[in-house]
Amino acid sequence: MVTPWDVEGKDGEGIDYDKLVRDFGCSTIDEKMIERIERVTGVRAHPFLRRGMFFAHRELDIILDAYERGEKFYLYTGRGPSSESLHLGHLIPFHFTKWLQDAFKVPLVIQLTDDEKFLWKDLTLEECGRLARENAKDIIACGFDPKRTFIFSDVQYMSTPLYQNMMKIAKCVTLNQVRGIFGFTGESNIGQVGFPPTQAAPSFPDCFPHMFGESKTSLRCLIPCAIDQDPYFRMTRDVAPRIGGYKPALIESRFFPALKGESGKMSASDATSAIYVTDTPKEIKSKVNKYAFSGGQLTVEDHRRLGGDLNTDISWKWLNFFLDDDEELAKIGEEYSSGRMLSGEIKAKLIETLIPICQGHQDAREKVTEETIDAFMSTQPRVFASLFGDMGDVAGALDESVSNSKPGVAIGAPEPEGPMKKQQDKAQTGEDGGQMSKSQMKKLLKEQQIAEKKRAKAEAKAAAAAN
Ligand code: TRP
Repeated sequence: MVTPWDVEGKDGEGIDYDKLVRDFGCSTIDEKMIERIERVTGVRAHPFLRRGMFFAHRELDIILDAYERGEKFYLYTGRGPSSESLHLGHLIPFHFTKWLQDAFKVPLVIQLTDDEKFLWKDLTLEECGRLARENAKDIIACGFDPKRTFIFSDVQYMSTPLYQNMMKIAKCVTLNQVRGIFGFTGESNIGQVGFPPTQAAPSFPDCFPHMFGESKTSLRCLIPCAIDQDPYFRMTRDVAPRIGGYKPALIESRFFPALKGESGKMSASDATSAIYVTDTPKEIKSKVNKYAFSGGQLTVEDHRRLGGDLNTDISWKWLNFFLDDDEELAKIGEEYSSGRMLSGEIKAKLIETLIPICQGHQDAREKVTEETIDAFMSTQPRVFASLFGDMGDVAGALDESVSNSKPGVAIGAPEPEGPMKKQQDKAQTGEDGGQMSKSQMKKLLKEQQIAEKKRAKAEAKAAAAAN
């Protein structure tokens, strides 16, 4: 069972990712696609991509097509700030997003859903706001480019076009639909029921006029996220054409396996299931030795004879994510599965790999000042062109040219859609009562009917999957 708030495998079994992909209706990422990413970016694929951590997508091919044609896109990801200290699993999407940002040289927006966590957890709104800023430090420590990155907390950033988009999205989605998509019940609070548009809206670039200008189609959007967030964006993609926007594309990851074994995602509230980014070398050593689920055999004799089980061994799985060196990794796999390497030895390899990662994160976080956070969260207009490609230096022109631009709007961003395009959007949404021609009306009706049928089908599927 997978929703954005709960992930559970069948007792003792792992998550059936093939089933998830089937039920959700996304696609898997194959070798060819990875090669294509390497070709268009000229950068070797990140281990998370090469080794199947990010394994599913929606319309990533369309983003790549557009990118090759020279069209621009931006990245959108986020975090629900529900705890003070992050575990290693939390860093995965951010490290990967940082890689995407560098490889494609594109801007990024990061949503901190302090409102979501307030609605779902036993926390005050003020505490969620504080956690958002604390978590921003960890996110910044992953090394994002401040010129191309905007971090925002929902509660802080709400009185902007973000809210307009939320309203437009909300009007397109019924209570029955969110029940189908998210499993809301009569017991859900109405804040929860109304929350999905908040996470949907940043998929449209006009939520961020200071970055992307006021056009809804100035950019396409690519969202790196864990696959449990898919329901939000299934809903978003469904609504997108109706409010005149592009459907966001997705690149989706598996869950990071818990230290004690792969039956759910690593929980921040179970200290023995996670390595925190704040853990000391001593804590890392003791946790891995004590709790990391071993695929090794019970006795040394058996182990030498039968070898370790790479399918269940957590040290092996984690090494796959954190050990960069392909050759060394292959060697460890060979040694361990043949029984030449013992469980204690593969654990030692993991410990050796994790310590510098946590240490590096702690050092980087140390350096993040209040001013740095403010800079990332600033809504000062940016120079649109400087957000892409090798144009980083143009950002220096910001101060001089800012007076020439509309207040609050990015400098040199594409204008909102011209009259032709506007007509189309109106026709699709029927917004502001614009007159539609008969054929437009017919077309719209047909589209809506098809969309409705598709939606009903997907919902039935998702509901079946949830049960
Ligand atoms: N709901 C996500 C969480 O609880 C946070 C989030 C907001 C997010 N927007 C996102 C995650 C976009 C991925 C992509 O962590």
